[in-house]
Amino acid sequence: MSSRYTDIYQQWQDDPDTHWTNAARDITWFRPPERIFDADQGVYGRWFVGGLCNICYNCVDRHIAAGRGQDPAIIFDSAMTGISQVFSFDAVLQEVTAIAAVMRNLGIEKGDRVVIYMPMVPEAVFSMLACARLGAIHSVVFGGFAAQELASRLDSAGAKLVVTASCGLEPGRVVAYKPLLDGAIELARTKPANCLILQREQLSADLDPDRGEHDFAELAAVQRAAKTRVDCVPMASTDPLYILYTSGTTGKPKGVVRDTGGHMVALHWSMRNIYGLQAGDISWTASDIGWVVGHSYIVYGPLLAGVVTVLFEGKPVGTPDAGTFWRVVERYGVNVLFTAPTAIRAIRRDDPNGRLAGGRNLSSLRTLFLAGERADPETLHWAATLLGIPVIDNWWQTETGWPIAANPMGLGPLPVKPGSPTVPMPGFTVAVLDDSGHRTSPDALGNLAIRLPLPPGCLTTYWEADDLFHEACLSEFPGYYKTADAGRIDEDGYVFVMARTDDIINCAGHRLSTGALEEVCACHPDVAECAVVGVADPIKGQVPCGFLVLKSGTMRGGPDVCQDVIDLVRQRIGAVAAFRKVVIVAKLPKTRSGKILRATIQKIADRQSWSMPATIEDPATLQAVAVALREDVYVSKKQ
Ligand code: COA
Ligand code: AMP
Repeated sequence: MSSRYTDIYQQWQDDPDTHWTNAARDITWFRPPERIFDADQGVYGRWFVGGLCNICYNCVDRHIAAGRGQDPAIIFDSAMTGISQVFSFDAVLQEVTAIAAVMRNLGIEKGDRVVIYMPMVPEAVFSMLACARLGAIHSVVFGGFAAQELASRLDSAGAKLVVTASCGLEPGRVVAYKPLLDGAIELARTKPANCLILQREQLSADLDPDRGEHDFAELAAVQRAAKTRVDCVPMASTDPLYILYTSGTTGKPKGVVRDTGGHMVALHWSMRNIYGLQAGDISWTASDIGWVVGHSYIVYGPLLAGVVTVLFEGKPVGTPDAGTFWRVVERYGVNVLFTAPTAIRAIRRDDPNGRLAGGRNLSSLRTLFLAGERADPETLHWAATLLGIPVIDNWWQTETGWPIAANPMGLGPLPVKPGSPTVPMPGFTVAVLDDSGHRTSPDALGNLAIRLPLPPGCLTTYWEADDLFHEACLSEFPGYYKTADAGRIDEDGYVFVMARTDDIINCAGHRLSTGALEEVCACHPDVAECAVVGVADPIKGQVPCGFLVLKSGTMRGGPDVCQDVIDLVRQRIGAVAAFRKVVIVAKLPKTRSGKILRATIQKIADRQSWSMPATIEDPATLQAVAVALREDVYVSKKQ
C-alpha cells in the first residue's frame, strides 16, 4: 500500500486551516470555534478560538449517546494484584460522575487545580476525567517522586485538592503514599484544603477528617448510590485542561499547560492517522499516567477515539517475568502496543530468545510503537523479528503532547529506517539549525527546532510563566520552538534524533534534570563540589552518575558520603531518579572560565574517544576522572 503521507503533509502545508478544520469535525463542540487559529492570542497564537467543548464529554458521554454505552472502554490489568476488570463507557460515566460529584462537594470548580498522585489504578483515570468534567485543571504527579517534588508541584499549581491512594505497589515493596503526602503538605506553602485517599487493601492509611482527609471510595459510593448528576462544564477551547510538570534545566520543574480544544483535535487526528486505530480497536500503552505518554495515549487519545484502552499496573519484567506483556496482549487481544524502548530492552535481557512470547497467540497485534527515548536499531530489530510486525519509533516530548515525527501507520506506512522516528507529522515543520540559528546543510547535525506556530495539542505556555516559556523555548531561535534535541534530517526527509542539547538526561524513558540532582548532592555537608552526568546503561539508556569533590578534613569515609548522597537524592527527588552511582574525585575538570566539562566526563564514562579541550584549566583532572571511573565507582546496593 502506498502512503498518503506526502499528499496529506503537502495539503497541510498549503492550507493548514482546512487541514485542522477537517480534523476538528471529529470532535463534538458545544459551540464550534469561530477561528481555527488566532495569531494574536497567547504566547505564539491560540487554536480553535471561540469554541466551547468538554473533553470528558468527548471521551465518554458522546460514545454513550452514539449507542456504545455497553462497549468496553477501559480494561484494567494488574500484574501486582491479579485484578482484571473491564469498564464499559456506561460504567466509566458512572464512576467519573460520582467522583466529580465528590469533588464538587469539596468545593472544586472550573479553573481550580487538583493534584493526582496515584498508582496505576482505574480511579486515577476516573479522577482525571472527573476534573475535566468539572473544568478543574488536573496535575498528575508520578508516584515515584518524593515528598519535596510533590510539594513543589502543589505550590506551583496552587492545588486545592489532592487525590491519592494509600499505597503504590512496586515489585517486592509496598510504597506508602500517605507519609509522602503528609511530608509534602508539611513542606508546601500552599496547603490543599482537602485530600481524597483511595484505600488499597495492601496498606491502609490513617485518615483525619479534621485535616480534610477523606475516604475516596466511601464518598464516591454515596454519590453513586444517589445517582447525582454532574453535567460537563462547557470549556473554552483555550481553557487549560491540565498542567504536567517536567524536568527543566534547573531544579524547578516546569508546568507544561495543555489546552482543551486543540489537544482534543490533535490527539484524535493522531489516533487514526499515526497509530492506525479506530473505534472498537484495543490499544495498550504500557507507560504511566504520570508521564505525557500516559496522558495522551492511555487516557485521552484512546477514549476520544472510542478505542478500548488497557491500563496496566506492573512492569515489563519481574511481575512476574518477561512474558507479562505477551500475556496481556493475548488475553485482551491488543491491536496496538506502545511502550518505551527500555521496556523492550529489559524483556530482551531476561528472555533473549523470546521464549515467553513463543506459546502465546499474538495474532491481534498489528504494530508496536516505541517512544520516550531513542529507539536503538538493535532493540527495534529484535522486537520486529520476535513479533513479525512493524516496530515504529515516534519522537515527541511532554511539551508537544503528540508525535513531532512518526511513521503514520493510518496514512500508510513509510519504509522504516532504524534509528529514525521517520518524518515530521502534519502540523510540524522541523528544521535543523546551527547555534546561530541558520539552517544547516542537508544531513548535517544541529539543533532540532519547530517552526512556529506549534500545532494544536502542544503546550500553550508554562503554568503562570509565559516569560519563562518564551525565554526557554522561543527566544534562542526567533520564529522557532527549540526542542532541546540535537539531530539531523536526511535527503529523504527522515529525522534522526541524537541527544539532548541541555543537561536533561533520559533514564528509562524518564526525563531527569542533572541540575536538580546536583542541587541535592551539593546539600551534603561533606560535599564541596559536584557534577552529575548521564552515563550509558544497557537497559535504561542512561543513568545518572555523580562526581563529588569532598571538603578537606571530612571525617566520614568516602563510601559513607556516597551512600548518604544517594539516600538524599532518593529522599528529596524520589526513587525515580535511579541515582545509584557516585565517584569521588579530587577536583572537577573545568574550563579556565570555570565551566564543568560535563560532555567530556560523559565521553570518558561511556568509553568513547575524547580529546583534551583546549580551554581546560588542569588537564590532570580529566585523567583523574578516567582513573576513578575505572577503579573507584561507588554503586549503591541498598534500595
Ligand atoms: N511509584 C513508586 N516508585 C516507583 C514508581 C512508582 N510509580 N515507578 C518506579 N518506581 C521506583 C522503582 O521501584 C525503582 O525503585 P528501586 O530503586 O527501589 O528499585 C526506582 O523507582 C527506579 O525505577 P525504574 O527506573 O523504573 O527502574 P526499575 O529497575 O524499577 O525498572 C524498567 C526498570 C526497565 C522495568 C522500568 O524502568 C520500565 O518499565 N521502564 C519502561 C519505561 C516507561 O514506561 N517509560 C515511560 C515513558 S514512555
Ligand atoms: P519527555 O518530555 O519526558 O517525553 O521526554 C522528551 C525527550 O525524550 C525528547 O526531548 C527526546 O530527548 C527524548 N525522546 C522522546 N522520544 C524520542 C525518540 N523517539 N527518539 C529519540 N529521543 C526521544
